[in-house]
Amino acid sequence: MTDKELFEIAEKAKEYSYSPYSNFRVGAALLCEDGKVFTGTNVENASFGATVCAERVALVKAVSEGCKTFTKIAISADKNPCSPCGICRQSLIEFSPEMQVIYMSQDGCLVNVNLKDLLLNNFVL
Ligand code: THU
Repeated sequence: MTDKELFEIAEKAKEYSYSPYSNFRVGAALLCEDGKVFTGTNVENASFGATVCAERVALVKAVSEGCKTFTKIAISADKNPCSPCGICRQSLIEFSPEMQVIYMSQDGCLVNVNLKDLLLNNFVL
């Protein structure tokens, strides 16, 4: 699957965003090694700390259905760039440090970076 195809899936996932507090919609599409794609969107809550980012929604959906190795994640948001937050980087790197992260730059080009370059010296237990 191309970066553009995966990003288009993330754009569609963004439509389901529940973000009445920030009005900032995010969609994610997570590509597994077997070709399956899991989508996610941000789900906010009046208790702000209970908010879950789009990337972690996709991750939890995938892992809970037996998929634990990922090649790419694409993220689409209402404002560019939107690269994953620190908690999402840490959550993803546990499973696939070699995976690629795709998002749109401020000038509208798709960026593809390695997750391990976004998070150096991640926490390991
Ligand atoms: N958000 C994500 O879904 N992913 C990110 O990588 C950054 C932030 C969400 C969380 C919250 O619902 C909104 O964007 C504003 O922070």
